[in-house]
Amino acid sequence: MKQKILVTGGAGYIGSHTSVKLIEAGYDVVIIDNLSNSDVKMIDGIEKITGVKPEFYEFDLCDIHKTKDFFSKNTDIKAIIHFAAYKAVGESVNLPLKYYHNNIASLVNIIQNMINFKVENLVFSSSCTVYGQPEPKYLPVTEDAPVQPAGSPYGNTKQISEEIIRDTIISNKNLKTIALRYFNPIGAHKSAIIGELPIGTPNNLIPFLTQTVAGLRDELSVFGNDYNTPDGSAIRDYIDVNDLAEAHVIAIERLINDKNKKNFEYFNLGTGNGNSVLDVINTFEKATGKKVNYKIVPRREGDIEQVWADTSFANTELGWKAKTSLGESLLSAWNWEKKVRGL
Ligand code: UFG
Repeated sequence: MKQKILVTGGAGYIGSHTSVKLIEAGYDVVIIDNLSNSDVKMIDGIEKITGVKPEFYEFDLCDIHKTKDFFSKNTDIKAIIHFAAYKAVGESVNLPLKYYHNNIASLVNIIQNMINFKVENLVFSSSCTVYGQPEPKYLPVTEDAPVQPAGSPYGNTKQISEEIIRDTIISNKNLKTIALRYFNPIGAHKSAIIGELPIGTPNNLIPFLTQTVAGLRDELSVFGNDYNTPDGSAIRDYIDVNDLAEAHVIAIERLINDKNKKNFEYFNLGTGNGNSVLDVINTFEKATGKKVNYKIVPRREGDIEQVWADTSFANTELGWKAKTSLGESLLSAWNWEKKVRGL
């Protein structure tokens, strides 16, 4: 009998890639997604890749009645991966309540139902945003680096969510959670059947870059070349979405098989390498043979200078390591963009 995993936000970018890996690993996947920032085509994409159509429910996880109804009819859920959340940093500054409501209310609702319906295992999508700009002595950043005051309401929802889980576990000893702190997820499935599909103008570097090369945007703005980094542009740890997805399968197995050492664990998911914006552009050009039209503009407000992961804890404890090179990820992102645009 296959074990059933609920993937919230499974039509989204990381959720769809993780659903593919879960199905390939032999799990039954059930997706809940309200499609507010995703496309139902991704569910078809998951089926095309795996040959299996995941069960799909379209509703908002802030809806107490629909969520309760779902749990009462699906009492065989073995574990939950909770992706569904808003994630645009800039938007969260302008619309904080939208973020606090959606990201927090849905989490509380899910955990309450986990307790009521005795679902014990949760993998939570967290972010390296909890570290803010670490002091130089904490770079590369480990899980022990101090959590910094959040730079945005979005970031704060991730910190508060981790706290909610940590507090709830104290009085609910059966509940086990692994929080995965993602660095910068990029790339697409090698088939180019699923990938990142931002609605409107992309905020993130890679979709903006690929849309520029595809001709949808005139030029890519590089936000700042006066940072204290070797080439002056900001540094991040770009992690391939397929590698990231694999870590979720490992986290699920760890929880289901009681291999977790504490009831609340958290891991950095990155490559361990820092790359600057200009590195990304150069690597993209080499990997794809395409020129990127870009210009240097002033820094973007709220951006941090540099952060990349120390992944030793995830490497040793989870037995997981990122495998995909930056060039391979950028090539898959470009192949996906070409497919979406019919190029
Ligand atoms: N950048 C550009 N031009 C662009 C877009 C981005 O130069 O058009 C630069 C940014 O200034 C930054 C880097 O590319 O230096 C990466 O920017 P992204 O917007 O892709 O990603 P961020 O690192 O700003 O944000 C990501 C996630 C957030 C998360 C944050 C944590 O998108 O969800 O990491 O640090 F909160």
